[in-house]
Amino acid sequence: MIIVLLGPPGAGKGAQAEMLESRYGLVSLSTGDLLRDVVTKGGPQADAVKAIMDAGDPVPDDMVLALLQDAMAAQANEAGFILDGFPRTVPQAVELDALLTDAGQRVDAVVAIQVPDDVVVQRISGRFACAACGAIYHDTFKQPLVPGVCDDCGCADFERRSDDNEETVRNRLAAYRAKTEPIIPYYRDRGLLHSVDGTPAPDVVFAATTAILDPLAER
Ligand code: AP5
Repeated sequence: MIIVLLGPPGAGKGAQAEMLESRYGLVSLSTGDLLRDVVTKGGPQADAVKAIMDAGDPVPDDMVLALLQDAMAAQANEAGFILDGFPRTVPQAVELDALLTDAGQRVDAVVAIQVPDDVVVQRISGRFACAACGAIYHDTFKQPLVPGVCDDCGCADFERRSDDNEETVRNRLAAYRAKTEPIIPYYRDRGLLHSVDGTPAPDVVFAATTAILDPLAER
């Protein structure tokens, strides 16, 4: 099963991907995480990629596609993938279809998580993550059960993303409207688009999402 999670920054794509992975045995691939790895490893493209991400602009399609293709090959998983933050432009969606067709696969469902802009800004400005395992938390909505200790791995180090500030978030939202929203009719025309309200608590969003995906997983 190949699931695409669409939605503006802070919609909860990463939070939902984490829960969907274990429910369906899928591997979640986030192109944002793949790009942050490029920056952390510090190769020849690292500075340019960091500058683009810190500005909240989309990284060029060819680079993102190459990263995704490598990640799918490296983490080959029979059950399939959750694509978090990819595709993000119509050319990426077209290339993804071509790539999957070559492999005898297809996108099974696209879940568009809908969240208004003011909620996005509130969520992004309070987000932090475990520095060791990447588990996502929020100053208001999701604190670790024991303050200062990651629920998942027990690590006491946390970090905030350099693009999680109000100015960059506004630009990421503008990029989403201009470049990513045009994907919605692309998938609607193919009968693959499902929308969920991303404003309630994560477990409520998860229940709405699994109500859509469970019948597909049983096929
Ligand atoms: P990326 O890392 O993909 O960021 P994004 O799409 O902006 O999405 P986020 O990770 O910010 O949000 P999310 O929807 O995953 O929300 P989360 O679950 O963390 O991309 C970063 C950059 O990389 C881009 O700007 C671009 O430069 C580049 N890039 C990436 N992919 C690219 C591509 N394909 N092409 C070109 N460039 C690309 O939740 C947010 C917070 O809210 C958390 O604190 C969480 O705990 C909380 N929360 C989540 N759900 C709920 C809920 N239901 N209720 C209350 N709180 C919630």
